[in-house]
Amino acid sequence: MTTAVVAPGPAPQPAGPDPDSDIDLAAVAKLFTPAVVAARAHTEELAFEQLPGPTRELLGGYAAELRRQTFTAGRLAAARATAAIAGRPHWLDADDRGAPRWPDGTRGSLSHTNQLALAVAAVDQGDELGIDIEPLATGPGLLDALRYVCTPAERARVAAAPVPELAVLRVFCTKEALYKAAPPEVQRGLTMQSVELDWTDPPGGDLDPQAQPLTLRAVKGPVAGRTALCAVIGTHMVAAVTLPREPIHSTPTQDQDGQ
Ligand SMILES: CC(C)(COP(=O)(O)OP(=O)(O)OC[C@H]1O[C@@H](n2cnc3c(N)ncnc32)[C@H](O)[C@@H]1OP(=O)(O)O)[C@@H](O)C(=O)NCCC(=O)NCCS
Repeated sequence: MTTAVVAPGPAPQPAGPDPDSDIDLAAVAKLFTPAVVAARAHTEELAFEQLPGPTRELLGGYAAELRRQTFTAGRLAAARATAAIAGRPHWLDADDRGAPRWPDGTRGSLSHTNQLALAVAAVDQGDELGIDIEPLATGPGLLDALRYVCTPAERARVAAAPVPELAVLRVFCTKEALYKAAPPEVQRGLTMQSVELDWTDPPGGDLDPQAQPLTLRAVKGPVAGRTALCAVIGTHMVAAVTLPREPIHSTPTQDQDGQ
């Protein structure tokens, strides 16, 4: 079958009334300093076969249909973000970790749900970016995985939070975004227990429409002292991290609760 490679145009309007397949890009971009361009793509927008050959090859041999869809949407969102930064769309390559390679002079990060991909890109100013998006609906399931996601201190904080399923989701989302922004030598060997986060619960509760993005601070682990911003945006939790590209001196991992 001959397929045409589709040049990514401007982000379309949401495909339908389903809020899970859309996100407020201005609210996403506001989570980052310095400025970034945020772009999205739906999983139904572009077929895997329409990606350029070298991009398709990044997935290797067989990949499940859902993985093909999310991969394709991620590439499309990133192409839109890089077009806004670099003047032309760029189909991202990847390194052997699966981390995307951004065009020279730019930096970025991407994340997807089963329906939506979100990418941020910026002119390289010496920072690495990390983004993570999770549907709010995954919160209750994560409470069952609390011991995997959270250190003992975080578990206590989550249990006391106004909405524990959102609190654990926030921790998870933030650790994923921190991981993506961390340099390869720090990523190696990192687990959810390697980093401990601290935060102040939002005064009006997590779902207060006026709620400001919440700052989470890494208080233990290799990125201690670094912060992330996390916000409920529509039906998603989004975490954003900007890490200066400088040597991060590992501190001994806290071996907590035997994990
Ligand atoms: C790599 C990882 C962060 C991906 O997160 P996820 O929630 O499963 O999936 P997301 O949709 O949010 O992100 C996937 C994208 O992340 C990017 N990614 C993959 N590996 C990456 C890496 N090592 N560094 C940066 N970005 C990476 C890719 O673009 C990938 O999408 P693609 O494969 O379609 O290109 C996750 O699988 C992981 O390993 N998490 C570990 C987190 C952790 O241990 N944290 C410790 C405390 S900081």
